[in-house]
Amino acid sequence: MTKDEIKELADRFRNSEPQEIISYFIERFGDKIALSSSLGAEDQVLTEMVTGIDPGTTIFTLDTGRLFPETYDLIDRTSKKYKIKIKVYFPDHVVVEEMVNTKGINLFYDSIENRKECCQKRKLDPLKRAFEGLEAWICGLRADQSVTRKDIQVVEWDENNGLVKINPLAYWSEKKVWDYIKEHKIPYNPLHDKGYPSIGCLPCTRAIMEGEDIRAGRWWWENPDTKECGLHKK
Ligand code: ADX
Ligand code: SF4
Repeated sequence: MTKDEIKELADRFRNSEPQEIISYFIERFGDKIALSSSLGAEDQVLTEMVTGIDPGTTIFTLDTGRLFPETYDLIDRTSKKYKIKIKVYFPDHVVVEEMVNTKGINLFYDSIENRKECCQKRKLDPLKRAFEGLEAWICGLRADQSVTRKDIQVVEWDENNGLVKINPLAYWSEKKVWDYIKEHKIPYNPLHDKGYPSIGCLPCTRAIMEGEDIRAGRWWWENPDTKECGLHKK
């Protein structure tokens, strides 16, 4: 797929329903496309849509080893409800052992550098393995989630990973996501009802207070402009 075609498709699908976008790209890429799910609210909506369109589509998740217990339960509940096998990728134990035995088990609080190293080793390296053989990935990014995401398109070229990146919910609001979850009785993480709109690893996610930004609880000790783990870097 050329960059011009990607631009054309981004314009063509700008106002399309996510299901229409997903159907088109599943048909186009077949077994070379996968949904990358953190089990967050947006990804649960996408799981419902993707399995409705083609239950054989690969859905994978990156288990950093530091997730919330509620997230592990949700992996299980979701797999059972949709009768699917969510593919779980783990970090390399040798690499993680070396990191925590040198820098400490909670190294991420000590510096941004340490935090990025942990994200690299626990998420990005396994993500590279998940990408092997793929040509496109589907993500749950939304433009209004943060300053770093305001310019995202429904279809993009992901330069960093050399893949086509599909964001079917790019222009959905948070309310739309929740209305859809309730209407379709989609299983979701109970932490969302306890002040956690955005959920990542347990030590790097806190609940937010009323009026705070929806990603304020992620790496809350860092500046909003740097708060990406690298999964969605341009
Ligand atoms: S993050 O980069 O800050 O962690 P966020 O939690 O907002 O990302 O999720 C954005 C999208 O990134 C998700 O919808 C999903 O597609 C992908 N993603 C994030 N975390 C994971 C994970 N652990 N496993 C698989 N995909 C993930
Ligand atoms: Fe490590 Fe925190 Fe990144 Fe999870 S979010 S991989 S615990 S730094």
